[in-house]
Amino acid sequence: MTGFLQGKRAIVTGASKGIGFAIAQALLGEEASVVICGRNQQHLQESFERLRQIAPAGRVSAETADVSRRQDVARLFEFADKELGGLDILVNNAGFGIFRAAGELSVEEWDRVIGTNLSGAFYCTREAIPRFARSRGGSIINISSLAGKNPFAGGAAYNAAKFGLNALSEATMLDHRYDNVRVSYILPGSVDTGFAGEPRPNRSSWKIAPEDIAQIVLSILRMPERTMISRVEVRPSRPQKN
Ligand SMILES: NC(=O)c1ccc[n+]([C@@H]2O[C@H](COP(=O)([O-])OP(=O)(O)OC[C@H]3O[C@@H](n4cnc5c(N)ncnc54)[C@H](OP(=O)(O)O)[C@@H]3O)[C@@H](O)[C@H]2O)c1
Repeated sequence: MTGFLQGKRAIVTGASKGIGFAIAQALLGEEASVVICGRNQQHLQESFERLRQIAPAGRVSAETADVSRRQDVARLFEFADKELGGLDILVNNAGFGIFRAAGELSVEEWDRVIGTNLSGAFYCTREAIPRFARSRGGSIINISSLAGKNPFAGGAAYNAAKFGLNALSEATMLDHRYDNVRVSYILPGSVDTGFAGEPRPNRSSWKIAPEDIAQIVLSILRMPERTMISRVEVRPSRPQKN
């Protein structure tokens, strides 16, 4: 830890668990100030308490928000304005999947998956861009998935959301690179979290650890301003054989 993010202000969405929590932890470890969000208030509060142990003196704060709801996103960014006084880094991490054949997906399920993984990232991006202008630049890191590259049966909504998130990332980069906005997206394979709905009794030895994704985020942020890492694919070295 070198404290290279001292003075930087970040929002990490979906940070009460899993990858988002590990990213928030890593940013705080490098002395950034961080606002986290999630939908479940109790989980968010528990995670906030854990993070506060590594980041005293108000460097971490938490606000309940569902990124698929525009009003929640507006409130989250207003909260961050008060807590952070500006914004330098946005990590669009909040996401989840419903895995069902296209013909069996309900419209409501489709809307929830697209709303969180794709529209949520857009709502946060459009709040972040004017704030970055006031900070003379900023970084957006979107947590996509190898499901944004490899369609699979049962993945219609999740695949579509993550393919879309990749496109949103690249188009936003082209729109705002001359405003000193850097946009990166990470496509992980299986990460050892409760993403698939299962509790996590034991860490799995073969999957990517959430902390490894957090290290990638730090590597992206460590690049000199002249250089932008656009897209990172990451997968388990030795996936479990079926
Ligand atoms: N785990 C994997 O294998 C894997 C692989 C590739 C990509 N990813 C991506 O990585 C990201 C994080 O996944 P994870 O594995 O860490 O999942 P996770 O352990 O289930 O954590 C997801 C986090 O997002 C929050 N969240 C979910 N929906 C939200 C919403 N609408 N608004 C705000 N917060 C929301 C959850 O809290 P609440 O439920 O309280 O809202 C939780 O804090 C996702 O975008 C996922 O698609 C995961």
